[in-house]
Formats: sequence, structure tokens, C-alpha cells
Amino acid sequence: MGKITDFFKAVLGICETQELRPDMWRLEGNSARIQIEQAPELAAADGAIYLKGKGLKYPVLVVHTKDNGYLAFTNRCTHMGHRKLDPVAGEAILRCCSVNHSTYDLQGKRLSGPAKGDLEIYDVEVINDEVVVKL
Ligand code: FES
Repeated sequence: MGKITDFFKAVLGICETQELRPDMWRLEGNSARIQIEQAPELAAADGAIYLKGKGLKYPVLVVHTKDNGYLAFTNRCTHMGHRKLDPVAGEAILRCCSVNHSTYDLQGKRLSGPAKGDLEIYDVEVINDEVVVKL
């Protein structure tokens, strides 16, 4: 049953990572600011959320890394389906949620699959309990 469900999720491009509600983050100039306490999905290593809307050209995936840092990427596979991505727990990779499952490392570099290029990666800082993504 699980494998069938996983297959249909992949066909539909459904990821595990959820969008952070728009009222839980804000855009200030060229920075997206997330109050860490408003995003419990980011609390643990391998946790992730994505941002969309508010004039962002593409959704932005924000990942809490094992070494207690944060990384941000364009949440858009470079393969033609342009599906979103999930972090893979314990493996320090991102995986496309399509059937083809292209993978990328945490520097955004394409590792496998039909994706054509690397992901755009954004600088991230933690300032006063906020994750600040420089877009
Ligand atoms: S959209 Fe096809 S591998 Fe990502």
C-alpha cells in the first residue's frame, strides 16, 4: 500500500515538505524573514518548509541542516517538470518529488536524474530568532 501511495504521489509531484502559511513569514526588501517559533517544521534537523507568493518568482525551500544551520534553494527541479523538492532525512540531499527523482546535494549541485542543471541557492542568516533568506 505504501509503495502504491508513493507512486501516485510521485506521479502528481506531491512532496512531504509543506508551504509555510503566508502570515508566518514576511518579505522585507530582498529578504524573506521567518520567525523560527512560527515554523515548527524547521525546528529539527532535516526539517523543511517552503515559501511562495508575495512576489517570489519561484517557491523557496528552506532546510534545517544536521549541523544546526539553514539553507535555502529555489524549490524548482531543473528537469522539465519543474517539480518541488524534499530533503532526504539523514542523507544530506534534496530529491525531486517527481517519478524521476532527480537529486541534488546541499550546495544545490545536481547529483542524479534527468535534471539539467543545479539549483539556485540563497544566503541565509539567523538574526534575532529569525531565519533571513537573502533573495
Ligand atoms: S521534474 Fe522531472 S526529475 Fe524533477
